[in-house]
Amino acid sequence: MKTDKDLVFPKSDSWKMFNAIAGRYDFLNRLLSLGQDLRWRRALKKFLPDSNKQTILDLATGTADVLIALARDNPRIHKGYGIDPAVKMLSLGRKKIASRHLEGRLSLQEADAQALPFSDGTFDAVTIAFGIRNIPDLRLALLEMYRVAKKGGRVLILEFSKPENPFLKAGHWLYLQTVVPLVGFLFSGNFKAYTYLNQTIQTFPYGDRFCKILKQMGFVNIKPYFLMGGVATIYVAQK
Ligand SMILES: C[S@@+](CC[C@H](N)C(=O)[O-])C[C@H]1O[C@@H](n2cnc3c(N)ncnc32)[C@H](O)[C@@H]1O
Repeated sequence: MKTDKDLVFPKSDSWKMFNAIAGRYDFLNRLLSLGQDLRWRRALKKFLPDSNKQTILDLATGTADVLIALARDNPRIHKGYGIDPAVKMLSLGRKKIASRHLEGRLSLQEADAQALPFSDGTFDAVTIAFGIRNIPDLRLALLEMYRVAKKGGRVLILEFSKPENPFLKAGHWLYLQTVVPLVGFLFSGNFKAYTYLNQTIQTFPYGDRFCKILKQMGFVNIKPYFLMGGVATIYVAQK
Protein backbone atom coordinates (compact mmCIF):
# COMPACT_ATOMS: atom_id res chain seq x y z
CA MET A 1 0.00 0.00 0.00
CA LYS A 2 1.25 3.48 -0.88
CA THR A 3 2.10 5.86 1.97
CA ASP A 4 2.95 9.57 2.27
CA LYS A 5 6.60 8.66 1.57
CA ASP A 6 5.65 7.71 -2.01
CA LEU A 7 4.20 11.16 -2.86
CA VAL A 8 5.69 13.09 -5.83
CA PHE A 9 6.68 15.80 -3.32
CA PRO A 10 6.35 16.06 0.48
CA LYS A 11 3.14 17.49 1.96
CA SER A 12 5.22 20.19 3.61
CA ASP A 13 5.80 21.63 0.09
CA SER A 14 2.21 21.41 -1.13
CA TRP A 15 1.46 25.10 -0.52
CA LYS A 16 4.26 26.01 -2.99
CA MET A 17 2.55 23.87 -5.62
CA PHE A 18 -0.79 25.58 -4.87
CA ASN A 19 0.92 28.95 -5.35
CA ALA A 20 2.24 27.72 -8.71
CA ILE A 21 -1.20 26.61 -10.00
CA ALA A 22 -3.28 29.30 -8.23
CA GLY A 23 -4.45 30.95 -11.48
CA ARG A 24 -5.93 27.69 -12.80
CA TYR A 25 -7.06 26.23 -9.45
CA ASP A 26 -10.75 27.22 -9.47
CA PHE A 27 -11.21 26.45 -13.15
CA LEU A 28 -9.72 22.96 -12.79
CA ASN A 29 -11.79 22.24 -9.68
CA ARG A 30 -14.96 22.97 -11.63
CA LEU A 31 -13.80 21.01 -14.66
CA LEU A 32 -12.49 17.90 -12.88
CA SER A 33 -15.47 17.63 -10.52
CA LEU A 34 -17.99 18.66 -13.24
CA GLY A 35 -19.13 21.48 -10.96
CA GLN A 36 -19.78 19.17 -7.98
CA ASP A 37 -17.11 20.83 -5.81
CA LEU A 38 -19.27 23.97 -5.39
CA ARG A 39 -22.27 21.87 -4.38
CA TRP A 40 -20.15 19.94 -1.85
CA ARG A 41 -18.87 23.13 -0.21
CA ARG A 42 -22.41 24.53 -0.06
CA ALA A 43 -23.49 21.28 1.66
CA LEU A 44 -21.33 22.28 4.65
CA LYS A 45 -23.78 25.10 5.37
CA LYS A 46 -26.46 22.86 6.83
CA PHE A 47 -24.03 21.54 9.47
CA LEU A 48 -23.22 24.98 10.89
CA PRO A 49 -24.57 25.71 14.39
CA ASP A 50 -27.98 27.44 14.63
CA SER A 51 -26.81 30.43 16.65
CA ASN A 52 -26.75 34.02 15.39
CA LYS A 53 -23.58 36.16 15.22
CA GLN A 54 -21.29 33.24 14.49
CA THR A 55 -17.55 33.61 14.13
CA ILE A 56 -16.04 30.91 11.94
CA LEU A 57 -12.57 29.90 10.80
CA ASP A 58 -11.72 28.11 7.54
CA LEU A 59 -8.34 26.37 7.33
CA ALA A 60 -6.45 25.76 4.08
CA THR A 61 -8.91 28.29 2.72
CA GLY A 62 -7.16 28.65 -0.66
CA THR A 63 -9.24 30.92 -2.90
CA ALA A 64 -11.93 31.30 -0.21
CA ASP A 65 -14.67 29.20 -1.82
CA VAL A 66 -15.76 27.71 1.54
CA LEU A 67 -16.04 31.05 3.34
CA ILE A 68 -17.95 32.54 0.43
CA ALA A 69 -20.33 29.54 0.28
CA LEU A 70 -20.96 29.72 4.03
CA ALA A 71 -21.31 33.49 4.44
CA ARG A 72 -23.18 34.41 1.26
CA ASP A 73 -26.89 34.93 1.93
CA ASN A 74 -26.28 33.84 5.52
CA PRO A 75 -26.51 36.75 7.98
CA ARG A 76 -25.81 34.33 10.86
CA ILE A 77 -22.13 34.49 9.92
CA HIS A 78 -20.95 37.63 11.64
CA LYS A 79 -17.24 37.15 10.90
CA GLY A 80 -15.30 34.57 8.90
CA TYR A 81 -11.53 34.13 8.90
CA GLY A 82 -9.53 32.07 6.43
CA ILE A 83 -5.91 30.95 6.71
CA ASP A 84 -3.53 29.36 4.22
CA PRO A 85 0.26 29.51 3.65
CA ALA A 86 -0.20 29.98 -0.14
CA VAL A 87 -0.25 33.75 -0.63
CA LYS A 88 -1.20 33.59 -4.31
CA MET A 89 -4.29 31.52 -3.48
CA LEU A 90 -5.17 34.05 -0.76
CA SER A 91 -4.76 36.99 -3.09
CA LEU A 92 -7.26 35.44 -5.55
CA GLY A 93 -9.55 34.70 -2.61
CA ARG A 94 -9.45 38.35 -1.50
CA LYS A 95 -10.48 39.48 -4.99
CA LYS A 96 -13.42 37.05 -4.97
CA ILE A 97 -14.49 38.25 -1.51
CA ALA A 98 -14.34 41.89 -2.64
CA SER A 99 -16.27 41.19 -5.86
CA ARG A 100 -19.08 39.73 -3.74
CA HIS A 101 -18.99 42.68 -1.29
CA LEU A 102 -18.13 40.39 1.62
CA GLU A 103 -14.91 42.12 2.69
CA GLY A 104 -16.56 43.58 5.81
CA ARG A 105 -17.28 40.06 7.10
CA LEU A 106 -14.57 37.84 5.63
CA SER A 107 -10.83 38.19 5.94
CA LEU A 108 -7.86 36.04 4.96
CA GLN A 109 -4.38 35.70 6.38
CA GLU A 110 -1.21 33.72 5.80
CA ALA A 111 -0.80 30.97 8.41
CA ASP A 112 -0.19 27.26 8.90
CA ALA A 113 -3.03 25.00 10.11
CA GLN A 114 -0.55 23.32 12.47
CA ALA A 115 0.06 26.55 14.45
CA LEU A 116 -3.02 28.76 14.36
CA PRO A 117 -2.62 32.43 15.31
CA PHE A 118 -5.89 32.47 17.33
CA SER A 119 -6.75 32.16 21.02
CA ASP A 120 -8.34 29.08 22.59
CA GLY A 121 -12.14 28.80 22.34
CA THR A 122 -12.64 31.55 19.73
CA PHE A 123 -14.83 30.00 17.00
CA ASP A 124 -18.39 28.68 16.74
CA ALA A 125 -17.29 26.53 13.82
CA VAL A 126 -13.95 25.55 12.29
CA THR A 127 -14.00 24.20 8.73
CA ILE A 128 -11.54 22.74 6.25
CA ALA A 129 -12.34 21.54 2.72
CA PHE A 130 -9.96 19.42 0.63
CA GLY A 131 -7.20 20.66 2.91
CA ILE A 132 -6.68 18.19 5.75
CA ARG A 133 -5.19 15.72 3.22
CA ASN A 134 -2.39 18.22 2.55
CA ILE A 135 -1.32 18.95 6.11
CA PRO A 136 1.98 17.26 7.04
CA ASP A 137 0.90 16.53 10.64
CA LEU A 138 -2.80 15.73 10.45
CA ARG A 139 -3.16 15.19 14.21
CA LEU A 140 -1.50 18.48 15.04
CA ALA A 141 -3.95 20.35 12.78
CA LEU A 142 -6.92 18.54 14.38
CA LEU A 143 -5.65 19.45 17.85
CA GLU A 144 -5.37 23.08 16.73
CA MET A 145 -8.94 22.98 15.37
CA TYR A 146 -10.07 21.59 18.71
CA ARG A 147 -8.16 24.25 20.64
CA VAL A 148 -9.58 27.26 18.79
CA ALA A 149 -13.19 25.96 18.71
CA LYS A 150 -15.56 27.11 21.46
CA LYS A 151 -16.79 24.43 23.87
CA GLY A 152 -19.70 22.79 22.02
CA GLY A 153 -18.46 24.34 18.75
CA ARG A 154 -18.53 22.40 15.47
CA VAL A 155 -15.74 21.15 13.32
CA LEU A 156 -16.66 20.42 9.69
CA ILE A 157 -14.20 18.59 7.48
CA LEU A 158 -14.88 18.03 3.78
CA GLU A 159 -12.45 15.66 2.12
CA PHE A 160 -12.21 13.20 -0.75
CA SER A 161 -12.82 9.58 0.12
CA LYS A 162 -13.36 6.34 -1.78
CA PRO A 163 -16.76 4.90 -2.77
CA GLU A 164 -17.81 1.52 -1.30
CA ASN A 165 -19.66 0.29 -4.39
CA PRO A 166 -17.08 -1.82 -6.34
CA PHE A 167 -18.12 -0.47 -9.77
CA LEU A 168 -18.07 3.14 -8.62
CA LYS A 169 -14.78 2.47 -6.81
CA ALA A 170 -13.14 1.06 -9.96
CA GLY A 171 -14.39 3.97 -12.13
CA HIS A 172 -13.26 6.47 -9.52
CA TRP A 173 -9.79 4.88 -9.32
CA LEU A 174 -9.42 4.93 -13.10
CA TYR A 175 -10.57 8.56 -13.26
CA LEU A 176 -8.00 9.57 -10.62
CA GLN A 177 -5.19 7.62 -12.27
CA THR A 178 -5.74 8.83 -15.82
CA VAL A 179 -8.13 11.76 -16.39
CA VAL A 180 -7.08 13.86 -13.38
CA PRO A 181 -3.28 13.99 -14.06
CA LEU A 182 -3.81 14.36 -17.81
CA VAL A 183 -6.46 17.11 -17.76
CA GLY A 184 -4.65 18.78 -14.82
CA PHE A 185 -1.43 18.84 -16.85
CA LEU A 186 -3.12 20.09 -20.02
CA PHE A 187 -4.71 23.08 -18.29
CA SER A 188 -2.15 23.92 -15.60
CA GLY A 189 1.07 22.71 -17.24
CA ASN A 190 1.84 20.98 -13.93
CA PHE A 191 1.78 17.18 -14.09
CA LYS A 192 3.09 16.68 -10.56
CA ALA A 193 0.33 18.77 -8.98
CA TYR A 194 -2.47 16.58 -10.26
CA THR A 195 -0.50 13.34 -9.69
CA TYR A 196 -0.11 14.54 -6.09
CA LEU A 197 -3.90 15.06 -5.90
CA ASN A 198 -4.50 11.46 -6.95
CA GLN A 199 -1.81 10.11 -4.60
CA THR A 200 -3.04 11.99 -1.54
CA ILE A 201 -6.62 10.83 -2.13
CA GLN A 202 -5.37 7.22 -2.36
CA THR A 203 -3.40 7.42 0.90
CA PHE A 204 -5.82 9.49 3.05
CA PRO A 205 -7.30 7.59 6.06
CA TYR A 206 -10.95 8.20 5.12
CA GLY A 207 -14.21 6.95 6.67
CA ASP A 208 -14.06 4.95 9.92
CA ARG A 209 -10.30 5.40 10.19
CA PHE A 210 -10.68 9.17 10.10
CA CYS A 211 -13.59 9.11 12.57
CA LYS A 212 -11.35 7.14 14.96
CA ILE A 213 -8.62 9.77 14.68
CA LEU A 214 -11.17 12.53 15.42
CA LYS A 215 -12.23 10.61 18.53
CA GLN A 216 -8.61 10.23 19.64
CA MET A 217 -8.15 13.99 19.33
CA GLY A 218 -11.02 14.54 21.79
CA PHE A 219 -13.97 15.30 19.50
CA VAL A 220 -17.46 13.97 20.29
CA ASN A 221 -20.68 13.44 18.28
CA ILE A 222 -18.65 12.45 15.22
CA LYS A 223 -20.65 11.66 12.09
CA PRO A 224 -19.61 11.13 8.46
CA TYR A 225 -21.96 12.17 5.62
CA PHE A 226 -21.14 10.63 2.26
CA LEU A 227 -21.43 12.66 -0.94
CA MET A 228 -21.84 11.13 -4.41
CA GLY A 229 -21.66 7.56 -3.13
CA GLY A 230 -18.54 8.28 -1.07
CA VAL A 231 -16.42 10.22 -3.58
CA ALA A 232 -16.25 12.87 -0.86
CA THR A 233 -17.25 12.90 2.82
CA ILE A 234 -18.26 15.62 5.27
CA TYR A 235 -17.12 14.75 8.81
CA VAL A 236 -19.07 16.63 11.47
CA ALA A 237 -17.67 16.68 15.01
CA GLN A 238 -18.08 18.70 18.19
CA LYS A 239 -15.72 19.98 20.86
C1 LIG B 1 -6.93 21.55 -2.41
S1 LIG B 1 -6.62 23.15 -1.74
C2 LIG B 1 -8.17 23.49 -0.93
C3 LIG B 1 -8.49 24.95 -0.94
C4 LIG B 1 -9.92 25.31 -0.47
N1 LIG B 1 -10.18 24.86 0.86
C5 LIG B 1 -10.97 24.79 -1.41
O1 LIG B 1 -11.96 24.21 -0.93
O2 LIG B 1 -10.83 24.99 -2.61
C6 LIG B 1 -5.56 22.81 -0.41
C7 LIG B 1 -5.03 24.02 0.29
O3 LIG B 1 -4.28 23.59 1.44
C8 LIG B 1 -3.29 24.55 1.66
N2 LIG B 1 -2.27 24.07 2.61
C9 LIG B 1 -1.20 23.28 2.36
N3 LIG B 1 -0.48 23.10 3.48
C10 LIG B 1 -1.12 23.79 4.47
C11 LIG B 1 -0.88 23.99 5.86
N4 LIG B 1 0.18 23.45 6.46
N5 LIG B 1 -1.75 24.76 6.56
C12 LIG B 1 -2.83 25.31 5.96
N6 LIG B 1 -3.11 25.14 4.64
C13 LIG B 1 -2.27 24.39 3.91
C14 LIG B 1 -2.77 24.82 0.27
O4 LIG B 1 -1.99 25.98 0.18
C15 LIG B 1 -4.08 24.87 -0.52
O5 LIG B 1 -4.57 26.18 -0.65
